[in-house]
This record gives sequence, C-alpha cells and structure tokens, in this order.
Amino acid sequence: MTDHDQVPRRSCLAIILAAGEGTRMRSAKPKVLHQVAGLSLLGHVLKSVAAFEADGLAVVIGPDHDNVAAEARRFAPDAEIFVQAERKGTAHAVLAARDTLAKGYDDVIIAFGDTPLVLPETYRHMRALIAGGATVAVLGFEAKDPTGYGRLLVQDGDLIAIREHKDTSEAERLVKLCNGGIMALDGHRALELLSQIRPNNAQKEYYLTDCVEVARAKGLRSRVFVVPESEVMGINDRVQLATCEALFQARKRERAMRDGVTLQAPETVFFAHDTEIGRDVTIEPNVMFGAGVKVADGAVIHAFSHLEGATVGQGATVGPFARLRPGTDLGPEVKIGNFVETKAATIGAGAKVSHLSYIGDARVGAEANIGAGTITCNYDGYFKSLTEIGAQAFIGSNSALVAPVKIGRGAYVGSGSVITKDVPDDALAVGRGRQIMKEGWAASFHARQAAAKAQSHKK
Ligand code: UD1
Ligand code: CA
Repeated sequence: MTDHDQVPRRSCLAIILAAGEGTRMRSAKPKVLHQVAGLSLLGHVLKSVAAFEADGLAVVIGPDHDNVAAEARRFAPDAEIFVQAERKGTAHAVLAARDTLAKGYDDVIIAFGDTPLVLPETYRHMRALIAGGATVAVLGFEAKDPTGYGRLLVQDGDLIAIREHKDTSEAERLVKLCNGGIMALDGHRALELLSQIRPNNAQKEYYLTDCVEVARAKGLRSRVFVVPESEVMGINDRVQLATCEALFQARKRERAMRDGVTLQAPETVFFAHDTEIGRDVTIEPNVMFGAGVKVADGAVIHAFSHLEGATVGQGATVGPFARLRPGTDLGPEVKIGNFVETKAATIGAGAKVSHLSYIGDARVGAEANIGAGTITCNYDGYFKSLTEIGAQAFIGSNSALVAPVKIGRGAYVGSGSVITKDVPDDALAVGRGRQIMKEGWAASFHARQAAAKAQSHKK
C-alpha cells in the first residue's frame, strides 16, 4: 500500500450558479449561453469542473431557461438542475441546490457560470485549503480597479469578512484584494452556514460572501487563494465578452507555442476552445479555427485559412486562403492549395488539390491529383451525393464531377470535362465539346474585316 492509498479520497460537489439575468448583454439569450472561442460560458465552466472530477454536479438556472438546462446536460448528462425562481442573491442561489448539498459531500465548490477562465487547478487548490482545515476558501485577486467587487478584509493572514462594494466604508473601499466570487466550503458545514445568512445589506440580497463572517462567529477559519485578475474575469456585457475572448486566445496561443507550434503572428491566429495542434506545426498569419479541428505534427497552415470540424494529417499543407469545412479529413502529406474549399471530404495520403476547387461529399484516394478549378457537383437542390476518386487518379483542370459518380483508380479525366458516368480504373474520360480546326480562318477574317472598315471610312 502506498502513502497515497492511505489518504482517504474526499468527495466533492460542484455547484454552478447560472441564474444571472444578464440584462446588460442586450440579448434574447441567457448570458451564460454566449460564447468564447466557440463554446458557451457555461460550457467552459463545465469543462473545468469536469477536469477536477467532482463527484456531484448541480447547476442553478433562472426560470424559463430550458436552453441553459439543455446546454448543461449536453456536457454533463448527470448534472442535477435546479431553478432559482426568484433572484435573491448568490447564497439564495446556492440553497436552491439544498437537496444535493444535504447529501453531505466533503468539499463543495461554488463556481459562477459567467466566469469562464478559472483553471481546473485553481478549483483543486481551493479544495486543498478545505482539506487543510479551512471552512471557507475564497478565490481572491488584486484588482486594477476594484470598483464593483467585494473586498477581502484580511487580518493576521486570516480572511475575516468580504464586504460588497455597495456596503464598504471609505477605508474598505481602498482595499485592492477582491473577491473573484468562486468559493469552496467545508461540505459538512455548508448548509449550516448558508442557512444563517441574512439579507441585511444595501441590495437586500442573501450574499454568499457572508459565509466568511458566519463562519468566523463560530470560530471557523476562512482562507484566500489568490490568482491573476485575468483568470477571474466575469462577464456582464459584450465588451467584457470580447475582453474575455482576447484573454482566452492569448492563453491558447501561448499554450500552443509552448507545446511546439510556430505561430508567426500569434495575435492574428484564432483558436477554438477545443483546437488540438501537434508539434512542429507552423501556422502563418490570419488563420481562424472553428470548433473541432485537429492538426497533426509537421503540418503547415498557410495564411488566411479557415478551418472548422476538420482533421489535418501529418505533414499536410493547407492554404493560403483555404477553407476546410466540417467533415474534412486530410491524410498525411496532403496538399490543399489556395482558394480550395472542402466539406465532408476524406482525402488520402499525398493527394493534391492545389488550386481553386470545391471538393464536397467526396472520397479521394491516395496520391490523386485534382486539377485547378475542379468542382464536385454534390447537390441537385434536394439531395447531396458522393463523389469517389480512386487512388492516383488525375482530374484535369476545370472539370465538373456530377455526383453520384466514381472515378476509378489511376484513371484520367481530360480538362474541362463534365463527368456524369462512372470512369473505370485506368481509363481516360473526356466529356466536352470536340475541338474543330479551320486552317487560315483567322487570317482571312482579319483581311475581310479590315477591308470593310477602310471602305466605310472613305464614305
Ligand atoms: C459577486 C460577489 C462579489 C465578487 C464578484 C466577482 C456576492 C454577493 N458577490 O458579485 O463579492 O467580487 O461576484 O465577480 O457573491 N447568481 C444567481 N442568482 C442570484 C444572484 C447571482 O444565480 O440570485 C449568479 C449569477 O448568475 C452569477 C453569479 O451568481 O453567475 C454572481 O452573481 P452577480 O450578481 O454577478 O454577483 P456580483 O455582483 O458580480
Ligand atoms: Ca458578476
């Protein structure tokens, strides 16, 4: 038995408060459904919570917010959803999850649905403070401008109270150490503390922050865990949403570079929350990743490319000015050149689509060469159909492949063809008007026209 086995594993409940009104978003949808890097604010919080493996999860939502409940279930099917019917403050919101709290977890983490950048390890540090004997652990930060935040009042290293901005004295207002909002509580004391909170403050709300004073009155300790201000960024309006997006992008870019990705102009590359990039990948300026992109080692994404729901194989090159849409799967060493759009297309190892093409609903074999301007005509206005191109096939420039259609392995399609019938392996298909030739026609045409024009000037 190792030492590790002897430490009893603590159980943890995470409660996410997401019953915010979000009126300052000026939006038809609830605040926590707005997105950063292609994922809802709530999704970000659920992802961090999942990363520290809470044993129980409760999400407190506002009335009529079925779409918030659905988003919670999408990420955490087992989450218990509670509705806070009236918005009476953060402690009141936590108590909406009273039934789950009463199950008696060791640690309770209270996260905010509008504070998406808190790292999983931060939640872990807060749990460690509780495991170390604190009854309340509070996430603190030094605010550049503390206006609006609750102030953390510390005496001899102990947190003695949190004062909401509206309730501060002049002296307290000078305190820069602020409450990030997120809290951890001793799970065996949580209900007792929360139920003793009273709404005696400027806003007549039940403040979660009053836990600290209630605990202190019982001789129980509160501790602060301090993180950079950027991590506790909360979102109330779309200006803050954009600031949060910028912070997230900066974090993701740095992570990519530290993991071995070359970004020539990092500030111009935009990642999604789930973008996965391998080592020795180079990403040129002005590249945008939508959700669901994976790029394998050694690939190069040239400037001005847009990728979404796509997999890029090892050593493949994409762009400049390429658009990879969902369902694109590029094998190793594939080349996708400029002004090429792909969608639901599997492209085999070493195949090339170098210029000005649309390849949609297609399977392209290894080492095939798709000439400039090739279009898969995949849609008849009602149905999408598949185009299959065999390995090592050669599609001449400016061809239209009218799906459903199969081009055999090693087959050759003449430039400018419209292909409507399957082409067997190793065959040549030419589907265009035949070229006709009239020797000397141009010379006699010029002579005739020039003479006619000279005649008309004389008149
Ligand atoms: C809260 C803290 C403040 C801290 C700040 C950090 C309290 C009393 N104050 O203030 O000390 O500096 O966060 O950003 O906790 N919510 C509900 N139901 C309610 C009220 C709030 O679900 O009745 C949710 C909101 O959706 C939000 C979170 O709780 O996710 C925080 O509420 P908010 O009103 O934004 O609190 P702040 O005034 O920002
Ligand atoms: Ca807030």
